[in-house]
Amino acid sequence: MDRKKKLLIVSHAPSLNTRTLRDAVAQGAGHEDIENVEVTVLAPLEAGPDDVLACDAIILGTTENLGYMSGALKDFFDRSYYPCLEKTQGLPFAYYIRAGHDGTGTRRAVESITTGLKWRLVQEL
Ligand SMILES: Cc1cc2nc3c(=O)[nH]c(=O)nc-3n(C[C@H](O)[C@H](O)[C@H](O)COP(=O)(O)O)c2cc1C
Repeated sequence: MDRKKKLLIVSHAPSLNTRTLRDAVAQGAGHEDIENVEVTVLAPLEAGPDDVLACDAIILGTTENLGYMSGALKDFFDRSYYPCLEKTQGLPFAYYIRAGHDGTGTRRAVESITTGLKWRLVQEL
């Protein structure tokens, strides 16, 4: 049998609401109809380049804070960008944003960094 594909979920979830959102994403990814996928959920401050290098796909989750992604997710990118840059091009990814008002600043920021990394968006926001 093929080795299980590894899906990494890196989600900033500072509230009950955002934890519910994160858990719903993880539950969907782990649905019984989906075979051969191992799901790992990490907070951005717990995750780093080794986790990205070990995964086959990634889902990013963030709140919008001051018109940008959360500082925690930005820190994850700061630590992961260069160690991953040459090694994860084409990595399938998706992301979600919990924004009370808008979300476009966060969307622009996430898409800018992931464009730099040459990750492949597989699910439109
Ligand atoms: C410092 C700070 C800045 C924030 N800035 C924004 C913002 O620019 N836009 C926005 O939609 N929400 C903003 N929020 C709200 C967060 O996104 C919110 O805390 C998060 O969505 C969780 O809220 P919930 O539990 O109601 O979903 C901010 C929150 C904090 C703590």
